Amino acid sequence: MSPSERTPSAPVALQFLERWSPRAFSQEPVSREELSSLFEAARWAPSCFNEQPWLFVYGADGEDRARIEPLLVEGNRAWARKAPVLGVVFARKNFARNGAPNRWASFDSGAASMSLALQALDLGLSTHFMGGFDEAAAHEALNVPRDEFEAMAAFAIGRRGDPGELEQSMRERERPSDRKDRSEVAVEGRYRT
Ligand SMILES: Cc1cc2nc3c(=O)[nH]c(=O)nc-3n(C[C@H](O)[C@H](O)[C@H](O)COP(=O)(O)O)c2cc1C
Repeated sequence: MSPSERTPSAPVALQFLERWSPRAFSQEPVSREELSSLFEAARWAPSCFNEQPWLFVYGADGEDRARIEPLLVEGNRAWARKAPVLGVVFARKNFARNGAPNRWASFDSGAASMSLALQALDLGLSTHFMGGFDEAAAHEALNVPRDEFEAMAAFAIGRRGDPGELEQSMRERERPSDRKDRSEVAVEGRYRT
């Protein structure tokens, strides 16, 4: 399935079909201007009480990038090692306004991450978020306190590369995926089990 073959069951802006998570990345660097644009897009995401609980810690070269790669599980490192930008998105656990637990922090950090992903698409970049990483090691390596933040997801950013360079099992999955039927995920009125 190519992006243009993703068939929506109702009209949507093309960006929702064209964003997908590749594993084949080219090693071409992402510029500072592009990075600024990505994190600027994330900055404007909605959040509960406008707390903006997300924290993106990333590395685009040298030691900063090298610090993140070993945090990924083997299966992710196998492809993400080529991506020029790696990072981890954290969510601040408590509200700054009153110290109470912010149970929406992960929701908000996901929204900011999607903003980043769509801005990346607009710049011709791809993103791939990953749950497969060592959270404890991420806190330690990136100096993000565990009592204040929760590590949500690692991510890779770059330009799409040659799928031929992926190992075979990944090459076969290197295409946009389909989705559940809309009726399974959006219900008018009351949910029926
Ligand atoms: C929170 C989160 C964790 C994910 N973890 C991984 C992962 O560890 N490894 C991986 O290859 N893909 C991972 N993915 C990518 C998903 O598999 C992918 O988004 C999903 O299959 C839908 O495909 P698409 O993003 O190409 O539309 C993750 C995505 C999200 C949002």
